[in-house]
Amino acid sequence: MSQPTPVSGSATDTIERMESEVRGYSRLFPHVFQSASGSTLTTANGQQLIDFFCGAGSLNYGHNPAAAKQALLEYISQDGIQHSLDMMTEAKTRFLETFERTILQPRSMNYKIQFTGPTGTNAVEAALKLAKQHRKRSHIVTFTNAYHGHSLGSLAVTGNQYYHSEHYGSHNNVSFLPYDGYLDDFDTTILLEKMLSDTSSGMPLPAAIVLETIQGEGGIHVASDAWLQRVQSLCRQHDVLLIVDDIQVGNGRSGDFFSFEKAGLNPDMVCLSKSIGGGLPLSLLLIRPECDVWQPGQHTGTFRGNNLAFVAANAVLNHWNDASFVNGIWDRSKTLRESLSSIVQEHSHENWELRGRGMIWGLDVRDGRRARKVIDRAFQNGLMLESSGSDDEVLKFMPALNIPDHQLHQGLQLFRESLNAVMCKSKNSTSLNVPWPQNLTTSPVSSMVIS
Ligand SMILES: Cc1ncc(COP(=O)(O)O)c(C=O)c1O
Repeated sequence: MSQPTPVSGSATDTIERMESEVRGYSRLFPHVFQSASGSTLTTANGQQLIDFFCGAGSLNYGHNPAAAKQALLEYISQDGIQHSLDMMTEAKTRFLETFERTILQPRSMNYKIQFTGPTGTNAVEAALKLAKQHRKRSHIVTFTNAYHGHSLGSLAVTGNQYYHSEHYGSHNNVSFLPYDGYLDDFDTTILLEKMLSDTSSGMPLPAAIVLETIQGEGGIHVASDAWLQRVQSLCRQHDVLLIVDDIQVGNGRSGDFFSFEKAGLNPDMVCLSKSIGGGLPLSLLLIRPECDVWQPGQHTGTFRGNNLAFVAANAVLNHWNDASFVNGIWDRSKTLRESLSSIVQEHSHENWELRGRGMIWGLDVRDGRRARKVIDRAFQNGLMLESSGSDDEVLKFMPALNIPDHQLHQGLQLFRESLNAVMCKSKNSTSLNVPWPQNLTTSPVSSMVIS
């Protein structure tokens, strides 16, 4: 077998010379990554990192999950169909049947499935267009701190002004209303109700309301069940469609497969992407059958449905038939919550806040520069994590749903050490509330020299 062409120059030089200024994560993590397995990433220099970032929620089952890897190797070695537009393939059929049997039927859900282009923004774009077509209205309501992607339709419903420019013309036909908690204890559905029912509110009746039940990029804001239920009932009352964007917090991230299960919602459309492809690009839109008013080929694209992703997706969906996987999510969630809560308590004078659910938690340290220092220090110590929020002030914890317990504890310890180093606290001044595995007295990389 021929070997890949070796990299001739320094990766940094090549990337700086050739890749657009738009690149982002290679600046945040200026290292060359070489391999990854489960919850461990390895750089070209041989540094190992525990991954609490998970490709922004795309790697809920870890890197190169064994079942997906095996299925992909077999599929490729048999010259399985790779590209098929939206033609019928065995890989697609198998995925659909598994999704129906494993996810939809046990939840008594009835949705048609549209395969969109491969990234999350493609699913959001399709949802917005379909809602406008179905309701024959052009307006959409979204919420403060929302994040739905960067193509022009999905950007229009994304809050953060950093991503906007007047030149894009992306502010059209959208109203932003306050999300749950945006005005502290004030119930913001009161405002939504008034805006919808008052014909002089200035807000056109929307085709749809689009929301995340837990805002990931917006800073880990968790909507209460009562708020979500109220939004849904206002949608029904005013003949407005409800679109749940479950791109980041679906696929088990919130603890349940869909993040809206806990609140008992019944959305008209659901956007799924990221981890649905088992690590490979795949996006889809779940559509209540009555809303599926597309004409054949009316919303099309070359890469709708990616057969390799279908194969990987089919393999990882089987996790949902395994009670130990499902229960394990809640056990790890408890570990994360308890450990991070104890850190917040130790720094109680700082007015930090911990928010989250399931396997997505955010520690709001109120200062983006401080968060960045912690991220850098954690990376040096062997832990990869990211931040979110309008000023990147919320440290974000998203380990794989099946991260082995010892790596979860180890990652939390590395985080604690990194945070304390940044806060100028003595490394050993506090002890973990979570049990420390006997066989791991120190992390393999925490003794690295920190510049
Ligand atoms: C909730 C949500 N919607 C949409 C998107 C956009 O997905 P993509 O970056 O794959 O286009 C993201 C990405 O982080 C997201 O978190």
